[in-house]
Amino acid sequence: MANSFYITTPIYYINDVPHLGHGYTEVAADFIARFKRLQGFDVTFLTGTDEHGQKIAQAAEAKGVKPKEWADEIVPRWHEAWKALDISYDDFIRTTEARHEKPVQTFVQELYDRGEIYLGSYEGLYCVGCEAFKSPDELIDGKCPLHPTREIEHVKEENYFFRLSKYAERLIDLWESDERSVMPEVRRNEVLGKVRQGLDDLSMSRISFEWGIPIPWDSKHVIYVWIDALLNYITAAGYASDEARFNRIWPVDVHLIGKDILWFHSVIWPAMLMALDVPVPKTVYAHGFLLVGGAKMSKSSLTGISPQDLTETFGSDGYRYYFLREVSFGQDGTFSWESMVARYNSDLANDYGNLASRVLNMAGRYLGGAVPRTPADDELDEADRRLIDAYDQAFTGMEAALDGLSPTEALKAAWTFVRKANSYVEEVAPWALAKDESQHRRLEVVLYNLAESLRLIALLTFPATPRASQELWRRLGIDGELDRAAFATDGVWGGLPAGSKTTKGDALFPRLDDDQK
Ligand code: ME8
Ligand code: MG
Repeated sequence: MANSFYITTPIYYINDVPHLGHGYTEVAADFIARFKRLQGFDVTFLTGTDEHGQKIAQAAEAKGVKPKEWADEIVPRWHEAWKALDISYDDFIRTTEARHEKPVQTFVQELYDRGEIYLGSYEGLYCVGCEAFKSPDELIDGKCPLHPTREIEHVKEENYFFRLSKYAERLIDLWESDERSVMPEVRRNEVLGKVRQGLDDLSMSRISFEWGIPIPWDSKHVIYVWIDALLNYITAAGYASDEARFNRIWPVDVHLIGKDILWFHSVIWPAMLMALDVPVPKTVYAHGFLLVGGAKMSKSSLTGISPQDLTETFGSDGYRYYFLREVSFGQDGTFSWESMVARYNSDLANDYGNLASRVLNMAGRYLGGAVPRTPADDELDEADRRLIDAYDQAFTGMEAALDGLSPTEALKAAWTFVRKANSYVEEVAPWALAKDESQHRRLEVVLYNLAESLRLIALLTFPATPRASQELWRRLGIDGELDRAAFATDGVWGGLPAGSKTTKGDALFPRLDDDQK
C-alpha cells in the first residue's frame, strides 16, 4: 500500500461567498496534493466549511433565514468556486454533518471525563469576525485589526474551560525539537515566543446563542466554534467512526492555513490532541496574506473579489499559476491585475505556450506529425545532453522545493527547463536542418527531444496548470490521464512513444492585451 499523505485547508466561514484569499489557500493545497499524487503518495486532500457559531448565525439572521438554511443555500457557491479552480479535493466536510457532529461530542465528552474541562465564568472582549476573545492590547482603536468594520462585543458569561495552560511546556518542547512542525521558520518563532509567555485556559463553550453543537453533558451550552471547527480534521479522517482509516491517514502531514489562524492550529489544536493522547499534526504551514492595494482583502472589506471574476480572463490555469508563482510562498503578496497580465504573458503565453506551438508546428510541417524513433544514446550530441540534464535538474529542484512546501520555488525550478527548451530550439535550429536532406535523422532527433520536452513539461506543470498540461499530452498523441501519471514511470526521459501522432491546435495560453480590462 502506497504511503499516505494527508493535507488539509482551513474550513471556511460561510457568512459569504469565497474570495481570492480562500482561493489562494485552495490552489496552494491543490498544487501540493497533485504533486504528491505524482510522487506516488496515497493522497487525502480535505477542505470544507465551518458552519456554526455567532458569525454564521448573524449572517443568516440578516438574511432572515435559519442558519442551516443559509448554509445549505451558500455551500454550493463554495463548491462552484473550487470547481472553477480545478481543486481536486478528495473530501469536503461541512461541520453541520452528522459524521462531524457526533464525533465532536465524543471527543469533548472524553476531555470532560478526563478532567480536562471545568466550569468557570468569562468576562472579556469578543471579535465575532475572528470568533475569538481578544485582549485589549490586540485591538487598535478598540477594533480588531483583522475585522475593522465589526464592533467588538463585551461578553460576560458562564463557560466551560479547557485546561490549555498546562500544555505550554509540552508545546514548547514540541516546536523546539521539531523544526518542521510549524512552518515557515518565522511562524515557528512567533508561536514559540508567545507560548513562552505562558498560556491561559481556554473558554470552550458559549451560552448566549444556540447555533452550535451542544455540550453533551450540559446542553444549555454550545461547543465553542473553534473547538468544533478544528476537530473537522480528525472527524473527516474517521476519528470515532472509522478506526482503520483514521490510523492509516492520521497524523495529518500538512495543515495548510493562513497566518491569521496560526494560534488556533499550533497551540489550541495540538493541546487538545495531547489531552486525549492523539498524535499531533506533523506540520502546520501558515502562508501569508494576499493584499489588494495594500489592504488585506477579505469579505468584510470592500475589495472582495471572487475567483470566477479572474478565471473569466485568465482561465483556471492562469489563475492558479499566477498566485503560486507571483506570491513568494510563505510571505504576504500583493495582487494586481497588471502584474497578473504581465506574469501570464511572459511565463505562460511566451515561455510555455510559444514553445508548445513552435514544436507542434515543426513536428507537423517537417515530420507529418509523427513522433520519430527514440534517439539512441550515440545519436545525442552535447546540446541534447544539456537539455536532458536541465530536465533532471528541474525535476530534482521541484522535489526539493516540495520538501520545503514551496510551490513558488517548485515552479521556478520547472521554468528553468521550460526556458532551456526554448533556448535549445534556437541552438539546434530545426528549420535549418529541414533544408538539408542529409540532416534528416538529426532533424528527427532534435524534434523528438523537443516533443519529449513538452511531454515532461506538461508533467511538471500539471500541479499548477492541469488543463493546459492535459491538453498538451493530448496534442502529443498520448492517451494517458495526467491525474493518473507518476513521476517514477512517466518522469523518465524517453517515454514519448515513437509514432505518436501530434496535432497543432490553438494557442494553449492566448496572449492578453497589456491593457486588458
Ligand atoms: O478562519 N490572504 O475561516 P475564514 C490569504 N473558519 N489567505 C486568506 C486571506 C487573504 N487575504 N483571507 C482568507 C476561518 N484567507 C475558520 C477556519 S479551520 C479549522 C477554521 C484564507 O473563512 C486563509 O487560509 O476566515 C485563512 O487562514 C482562511 O482563508 C480563513 O478563512
Ligand atoms: Mg477570517
